[in-house]
Amino acid sequence: MTVERALARIDVGAIERNCAQLRSLLTGNAELCAVVKADGYGHGAVWAARAALAGGASWLGVATAAEAEDLRRHGLPGPILVMGALTPEEMRTALEADADVVAWKQEFVRLLAERAPPGTRAPRVHVKLDTGMGRLGTSDPAEARAVAAAAASDERLVLAGLMTHFATADEPEDEHFPYQLERFSRFAAEMRESYPGLRVHAANSAAAYRDSAAHFDMVRCGIAIYGLDPFHEDPAPRGLEPALSLCSYVASVKRFEAGESAGYGRTWRAAEPTLVGALPIGYGDGWRRGLSNASDVLVQGRRHPLVGTISMDNVTVDLGADSEVEPGEPAVLIGRQDDERILCEEIARRLATINYEITCGLSPRVRRVYDR
Ligand SMILES: Cc1ncc(COP(=O)(O)O)c(C=O)c1O
Repeated sequence: MTVERALARIDVGAIERNCAQLRSLLTGNAELCAVVKADGYGHGAVWAARAALAGGASWLGVATAAEAEDLRRHGLPGPILVMGALTPEEMRTALEADADVVAWKQEFVRLLAERAPPGTRAPRVHVKLDTGMGRLGTSDPAEARAVAAAAASDERLVLAGLMTHFATADEPEDEHFPYQLERFSRFAAEMRESYPGLRVHAANSAAAYRDSAAHFDMVRCGIAIYGLDPFHEDPAPRGLEPALSLCSYVASVKRFEAGESAGYGRTWRAAEPTLVGALPIGYGDGWRRGLSNASDVLVQGRRHPLVGTISMDNVTVDLGADSEVEPGEPAVLIGRQDDERILCEEIARRLATINYEITCGLSPRVRRVYDR
């Protein structure tokens, strides 16, 4: 088996199956928008998008105009929704990429009509009501109504959708999610009376699992399509398959006597004689320094503690006194070896963060390879 210093293996078949699984949950005619922003949460946007479409997603969601442009450059077909805020320049890029855009101000709608690049289709607008995320969108239903009316009454534009975004869908017992859902449902019902063709969408992955009343005409799922758990638990019981594994290898093995230390600052010393392996992966690859002395690595199908401070390009692992590991042995930082596995959710917990940040944080220096 060939090894490599820092390699992310992406199982595109898993993304495809996760999308098919999500689609099977959806009620009515709700469609699946696969969210592939931030380079597909670190998995590679173009590969993830292709796999998602093969798995039954019919829309792609991104945060920025440049992300939409990149998908088109790679030949991705079908509707793309740019969900983020856009400067006038970015708006132009989004429209040139034939993407739908989000609006919550009349001024923005006016600019869309005036600045649509010649030769492109009429800009398609999704009005965003902020029902309690406190971020983008208008919190004022009257303003949302006015923005929708401005788009609908301008023959240069198409009023395409109505959306909101949930703040706490991943916190099952909270009361804010039902509050947001109720607020949005009422507003959507009212708007549908005036605009029957409106595409209504609200749910992220957690909301899609949590309440089918949030499915409306489309769900926008990111984390779950990558097989990561929206509720920060084990994704397996939900039928999700993690698509990404992070691999390295043991580049050197050294015997340590009791008291000898590994790494900067000497934060770990051998309590007794042992063998310490060095893996050529570090925080320059996104394996965060906060994991120093606080995570495990799989070698020969067994967990071994990561010891000493993580450097930019190397980490050290206590292989144990009777280890027979030789240089060149494969190592897994996220993923499975034999019956052992390290979930992204475990790494996130150790860093007091969420699985999203772990895969998004893998740097460009980590080569991505795609398997089926
Ligand atoms: C507006 C919007 N919709 C949908 C999503 C997808 O969320 P998730 O990855 O939790 O499914 C995101 C991601 O943060 C988002 O910003």
